[in-house]
Amino acid sequence: MDLLNSSEEMAAWAKAEGLKGHRIGFVPTMGFLHTGHVSLMERLRPRVDRLVVSIYVNPLQFGPNEDLDRYPRDPEGDSKKCRDAGVDALFMPPELYPDGFSTAVTVDRLTDGLCGASRPGHLDGVTTVVARLLNLVRCDEACFGEKDFQQLMVIRRMVRDLAIPVQIVPGPLVRDADGLALSSRNKYLSTADRAKGLTLHRALFAMREAEAAGEKRARVLLAIGQASLDVDVLDYLELVDAETLTAIEHVDRPARALVAAKVGNTRLIDNVAIGPELSWT
Ligand code: PAJ
Repeated sequence: MDLLNSSEEMAAWAKAEGLKGHRIGFVPTMGFLHTGHVSLMERLRPRVDRLVVSIYVNPLQFGPNEDLDRYPRDPEGDSKKCRDAGVDALFMPPELYPDGFSTAVTVDRLTDGLCGASRPGHLDGVTTVVARLLNLVRCDEACFGEKDFQQLMVIRRMVRDLAIPVQIVPGPLVRDADGLALSSRNKYLSTADRAKGLTLHRALFAMREAEAAGEKRARVLLAIGQASLDVDVLDYLELVDAETLTAIEHVDRPARALVAAKVGNTRLIDNVAIGPELSWT
């Protein structure tokens, strides 16, 4: 596995592999890798000739009172996990942006609600870093997890709007055996926090079951979800059109239930598909 520590090294590697005619797959991450991240690598591995993973804790996507400084890190463990997953190049730059960096990439509308509303600037930070990463890695396919459903839809929109020549491949959300969505931030959870965190998944699946049993009214489904939640601060529980991410009244098309909440000092998110399946083409 090649270790690349600067944008220049990454660009030179990608150019050389491109000249050899190799198809490149890419999984961008912020590290402290878990089975959810590895599942994205496993998804792309058979589809491409060369697999690249990046690890960069992107300051642009953290708000002033968020956990940038205490975001968990484990470069050695991460590097081993990547090697075991058959990664060809690990891009782990101490700094990613050039001096005087002055550009931002913003996707409108899809970023108005959900995490876009509760974490101002967060999704702009994500699209900006992902645009730069995609240009450096020059990959044919990039995989993003459904764990961050709004992020996935926003990146898909950016790639279409800017005609970035990459196929965005969604990766299913991976959960722990008890149902908690895997997240690097789960490391912060005490046993009591974790019990509260589990109610996110319980609420979403209660909504999903009620819909499958015939309840199509969003108002009723949301009340069912609310009743299962036990968190310290609820940020949002919403039922939206899976494509536009705007609230719906009835589940008459592919929909998504999404939740974000704080347990202790940790912000957790989760989501589940509801109703007809979303077509990814
Ligand atoms: P990070 O939170 O490290 O996640 C990296 C990728 O792993 C994202 O595509 C995310 O959706 C996916 N992922 C995380 N937990 C998952 C789970 N339980 N199941 C499936 N996939 C999961 O998301 C980011 O980093 C950053 O915003 C990034 C895109 C790297 C830009 O900085």
